[in-house]
Amino acid sequence: MNTAGGCLMSYLEAAINIAREAGSNLKNAITKDFLVDVKDSNFDLVTEWDKKTENIIIDRIKEIYPNHLVIGEESVFVSSKDSFSELINEKEHVWIIDPIDGTNNFIHRLPGYTVSIAKFNYGQIELGVVYSPDNDEMFSAEKGKGAYLNKKKLTVSNQNQLENSMLATGFPSDVANFRANNLEQINKVALKCRDVRIYGSAALHCAYVAAGRLEAFWEEGLHIWDIAAGWILAEEAGGQVDYFSYDSNLMQYKSFYCGNKEINKQLIDVIE
Ligand code: IPD
Repeated sequence: MNTAGGCLMSYLEAAINIAREAGSNLKNAITKDFLVDVKDSNFDLVTEWDKKTENIIIDRIKEIYPNHLVIGEESVFVSSKDSFSELINEKEHVWIIDPIDGTNNFIHRLPGYTVSIAKFNYGQIELGVVYSPDNDEMFSAEKGKGAYLNKKKLTVSNQNQLENSMLATGFPSDVANFRANNLEQINKVALKCRDVRIYGSAALHCAYVAAGRLEAFWEEGLHIWDIAAGWILAEEAGGQVDYFSYDSNLMQYKSFYCGNKEINKQLIDVIE
């Protein structure tokens, strides 16, 4: 608990309020014209609303907690990446945010774009919020206190057969390094499970694992802001997160798996 504006508000409550405000702006903005820019390639785009929303979230966090560090997807690369990675581990209060996870969905006026906010404490994820403005679903979790969808407590699915499992994956925006590999992986996995979904937001996929809607999710080349909030959601709902090789300069995971414990294991056996 901490005091904000004279009233007692937890970090999680602050994250929920900020995500709801950001999401409601996006729900309104998606009905209007907006600017789209190329970030790294035609597969990696950014809209004026990614930037505006990131600034709003940073401003709100800083208004309440002026001394906290906030790292956002759209502003992280303007400074030294190495020092940011070190700071995450060395600082008590670090927020990592993705203002729109699922930017391509937002650009194409598709559902499935989310606001993702996580807070770290000396390198450990302390809390996470994934907000889906389309249907007003607020997923939240705090270390040791469980995961919730709005007020309902979440538990991962208890399915233990891969062949009965609904899985999800994503196409990495880092096309040069990862997209072809994922095609090979989908080929292998699709033959062994019930079906595979690609909703276009890694944060949402993790939240759906936490809610037991998906048995597992995997993707290569994700960055920490894509999955930090979803990671704690899945773990607090009783799930498992595994990854192989983390590039601390880029804050990028070569491969990332998030699922119920049994299916995560079976999925890794098929892919790795
Ligand atoms: C993207 C989404 C997408 C995933 C991409 C990510 P962004 O994040 O999470 O599902 O497949 O790899 O880059 O760019 O929309 O924040």
